[in-house]
Amino acid sequence: MVIEHESEITGAVEAAMAQTPDARLREVMAAFVRHSHAFLREVRPTEDEFEAGMRFLVGIGQATSEVKNEVVLAADVLGISTLVGLLNNPIGCGQTAAALLGPFWRGSAPRYPLGANLVQSPTPGLPLFVSGAVRDIDGRPLAGADVDVWHASPVGLYDNQDPEQADMNLRGLFTTDAEGRFRFRSVRPAGYPVPTDGPVGDLLRAQRRHPYRPAHIHFMITRPGFKTLITQIFADDADHLETDVTFSVIRSIVGHYTLHEDGPAPAPDVEGAFYTLQYDFVLEPGEMRIPIPPIA
Ligand SMILES: [Fe+2]
Repeated sequence: MVIEHESEITGAVEAAMAQTPDARLREVMAAFVRHSHAFLREVRPTEDEFEAGMRFLVGIGQATSEVKNEVVLAADVLGISTLVGLLNNPIGCGQTAAALLGPFWRGSAPRYPLGANLVQSPTPGLPLFVSGAVRDIDGRPLAGADVDVWHASPVGLYDNQDPEQADMNLRGLFTTDAEGRFRFRSVRPAGYPVPTDGPVGDLLRAQRRHPYRPAHIHFMITRPGFKTLITQIFADDADHLETDVTFSVIRSIVGHYTLHEDGPAPAPDVEGAFYTLQYDFVLEPGEMRIPIPPIA
């Protein structure tokens, strides 16, 4: 088609893609073209601004490495990851609310017996004892569910960001017992800033936004016949709970990290203060899918 006027371009692109055999790809790309063209007509970017936008996209790809996924990070700080998660996992349908996978899941956590300690190298912070159960929508315990756990250290860094930590520190994979229960030991995590040394950091600074996430533990719970649950349990007394840079905080997944000023602790070597967290998860029937790890 020979273009006579700017207004014809959107239809011309849609027509060019109309023969796409895959119906879903055809639908998704047609909507993408319509909405992105509408965005451009609203914003009317200058050519300099368009080049800056292209540089941002190139930059988030180039800033992605084995230890950091800047593309996932960009989707997170723009609310895109949380929106996709909630569209696929509506709040209030009986199952535990979902939260984003984030850029730090490694997909290869060591499998431990119930009760094991995630701490693999000297890590500061008060001991934390986490326990809970995994159930179906009708409240029946789910034995044999895999509970994959990972969190940042009390200084706010994941193992692969911090040369002070052993590989796989504060990560572990557990299997629920016959009553659907799980438990493990760790240290209380801190909140942390998302990485700000790439294009996403430049964007946050330009927007006068802080880069912080409230303290949380990541969980991914899988069992054949049930939809994979990916979520985070936040600390109810955490800083930045109301202003999470990734918009992940949902009321029902704010947990209570209970401070015990003194013992007895669930482990004999713990003296003095420690925390406990109890949280039960509910899975809904569906397909078990394992995401592609954003980093190695
Ligand atoms: Fe995290």
